[in-house]
Amino acid sequence: VGKALNLTFRTSQSDTTWLVSALLSSHGLTEVSATNNDFNLLWTGSHPRPHTFSSLRSYQRVNHFPRSYELTRKDRLYKNVARLQHCHGSKHFDFLPPSFIMPNEYRDFWSAHHRLHGPWIVKPVASSRGRGIYLVSKPEEVPMEEPVLVSKYIANPLLVDGHKCDLRLYVAVTSYDPLVIYLYRHGIVRFAAVKYTADQSSLDNPCIHLCNYSINKYHADFVVSEDPSVEDVGHKRSLTGFLKYLRSQGKDVNRLMRRIEDVCIKAIMAATPPVVAACKMFVPNRNNCFELYGFDILVDSDLKPWLLEVNLSPSLGCDSPLDLRVKSAMLSDLLTLVGIPAVDPA
Ligand SMILES: Nc1ncnc2c1ncn2[C@@H]1O[C@H](COP(=O)(O)OP(=O)(O)O)[C@@H](O)[C@H]1O
Ligand SMILES: [Mg+2]
Repeated sequence: VGKALNLTFRTSQSDTTWLVSALLSSHGLTEVSATNNDFNLLWTGSHPRPHTFSSLRSYQRVNHFPRSYELTRKDRLYKNVARLQHCHGSKHFDFLPPSFIMPNEYRDFWSAHHRLHGPWIVKPVASSRGRGIYLVSKPEEVPMEEPVLVSKYIANPLLVDGHKCDLRLYVAVTSYDPLVIYLYRHGIVRFAAVKYTADQSSLDNPCIHLCNYSINKYHADFVVSEDPSVEDVGHKRSLTGFLKYLRSQGKDVNRLMRRIEDVCIKAIMAATPPVVAACKMFVPNRNNCFELYGFDILVDSDLKPWLLEVNLSPSLGCDSPLDLRVKSAMLSDLLTLVGIPAVDPA
């Protein structure tokens, strides 16, 4: 189809465009150079510039909304959710661990420490893959020189076979006004390579407390499952297998998924006002933009889902058969959902 209609795509600044390119090429779309504006789809790993948005033609699609960082920067997410907590009541928006932007909110952090105690997890405000993250038990250990987000460490994660794990869920937004959100039913569960303990002495071991694949893959005990249909092996598993395991433990999986949907919707709602304002300013046509977000969710031992962060351009890297299965099906569903108009761009 793509060949007959001369459809094209452009990619840039993305370490994970291999899957996008492979999928589009297999449908006959041709990749054009990074300076060619005659494309049907633009797929980039970072935020496009305002000018890129404002020069879009009505049939062109781009995989970001302007100002998506209101959701995907850890400090902005926290600020936007805090605004909704203030307007509508904290109890409806209590899915982020209590957090503080340092050094500005230093006093609030100290008084929270007296009430809640540590450990706390310290994160750079705009980083990824576990880079620069560490745990502390006292406020004195938090640096005052650089902006960081300090969050209450959720010390009672739900354990599977004794290991901490968290969920990577794929959420697509095809429109912010009106808000249209899709939560993809398949996701990836990432495990810490070393068995969980909340002992003080374990706090500096990232392979106990962080579930990032980019950290745990280097551990000698890390296991990659070669067969994605085997659901209880390896340090990366399918969401389906994880939910099946919970069901076998007598847990209310439907309630958990409803709560997760609630978290995803409310987080996106929190970023909606600035994104809609930016769309009015920069985006000429209502269907130009769509976005795929990677939601990182930690489920605690009471089966409460906590939102840890939302990723811009979640990794589409396929290091294992499970990655390939989940991500390729998700991406092809996403592009079907978005639709690439059959217009010759030349
Ligand atoms: N508040 C928290 N409580 C417990 N674990 C956390 C918390 N925040 C982050 N983590 C752990 O640290 C990992 C990295 O945190 P995340 O916010 O996703 O940052 P990054 O952008 O580096 O991936 C998560 O996958 C999770 O395992
Ligand atoms: Mg993360």
